Amino acid sequence: MKKQVGIEALAIAVPRRYVDIEELARARGVDPAKYTAGLGAKEMAVADPGEDAVALAASAAARLMRTHAVDPAKLGMLVVGTETGVDHSKPVASHVQGLLKLPSSMRVYDSQHACYGGTAGLMAAVEWIASGAAGGRSAMVICSDIARYGLNTPGEPTQGGGAVALLVSEQPDLLAVDVGLNGACSMDVYDFWRPIGRREAVVDGHYSIKCYTDALSGAYRNWRERALAHEVVRWGATMPGEQLARILYHVPFCKMARKAHTQLRLCDIEDAPNAPASTPEGREELAKSSASYNAQVASSLDLNARVGNVYTASLYLALAGLLNTEGAALAGQRVGLLSYGSGCASEFYSGVVGDKAAKRMATTNVEAVMAKRERVSVAEYERIMNLSYENPESLPPQAGEFRLSEIRDHKRLYTQGP
Ligand code: CAA
Repeated sequence: MKKQVGIEALAIAVPRRYVDIEELARARGVDPAKYTAGLGAKEMAVADPGEDAVALAASAAARLMRTHAVDPAKLGMLVVGTETGVDHSKPVASHVQGLLKLPSSMRVYDSQHACYGGTAGLMAAVEWIASGAAGGRSAMVICSDIARYGLNTPGEPTQGGGAVALLVSEQPDLLAVDVGLNGACSMDVYDFWRPIGRREAVVDGHYSIKCYTDALSGAYRNWRERALAHEVVRWGATMPGEQLARILYHVPFCKMARKAHTQLRLCDIEDAPNAPASTPEGREELAKSSASYNAQVASSLDLNARVGNVYTASLYLALAGLLNTEGAALAGQRVGLLSYGSGCASEFYSGVVGDKAAKRMATTNVEAVMAKRERVSVAEYERIMNLSYENPESLPPQAGEFRLSEIRDHKRLYTQGP
């Protein structure tokens, strides 16, 4: 039997504070419906300087190891996907290795390509295991980021932060990846970037949406070609994209998942051997189907709507949200996943939800992590945003979580809660 490889378990970490998105809209003199209906947001995580990409990554990884009883001796690879690392040279991954006291006999590194870095790391881990080179060992892939555009910018309501840690192995209880079907599409574009030394991202917002949907089209068509050849999907009474039980997207803001889904459907509608609509308007109308969006996408967005953008982790927060609510119902069914990183790179892949997904998600208990958060006022959010990242507030870390406590001689020192 062909070796199964994929995600065995996951855990999340989120900043301890969040702001209500309608309150933020009112403070900015904007109709709250623009942020809720227009962007699809409900709440937005507010990371303080003590909750940097290392602290969030280590907190998620520690929770994963603890709740799923991961044996450190069985890990052979640790990759952190991040675009908000803390040093030009020393990787976030080596901090995590030290903080969690992981063995030295491991391959440890960061993977960077905007929001795509986590998926690049995941695929390196999956293919390392599938190739047999791992020799039965597992990998940990962590996506950790803080999305920051700044106060009073168009991107402000699409900020956020957090981390998702993934255990990748030959026992894919959450998702068995269809190894070899992946479709990729990359282009050299300036849609979103963060020059060295800048804390806030620079973004050409509307152009970035176009780059995302263009890259999606390329990656999806590429995956579909392989999936058709392997008879994983087919042209028939339903279109290939409709044969996936759910489709998860990179979620910079929830409405983007809806735009992405429309684009994916348009790819199928335009390429179908028996054209389902004869005019561009008819094709556009069919692509926008609310029924399809509600059936295939909406149920994955709950956590994203409450946390905001988490760059590399956004797609995997959507996976956590989906399996948290529908893990049991989706067992044995195939889902599609679209990763997008500005600059840009995108990858579409698919996988089959495992029989133990619901049990694993119950153990992970993402709701308990979310319930620990504290709502803060807009004034408090603004105070936190204005704190220097070199002087973290001296707050005690929460139980089991890590915080940056001090920077001494340019070295970052972290403490863990009891
Ligand atoms: N009631 C209901 N809806 C309203 C409304 C109201 N009163 N007012 C406006 N809207 C709707 C608009 O119609 C629009 O919806 P559609 O796009 O469906 O038409 C939506 O609200 C947003 O309105 P605008 O486009 O006018 O908003 P904006 O120009 O102020 O900014 C944005 C939107 C470009 C997404 C901005 O928030 C931004 O730059 N965000 C960061 C960039 C980003 O997330 N890009 C995504 C692709 S790149 C990527 O994915 C990588 C990554 O992680 C960054």
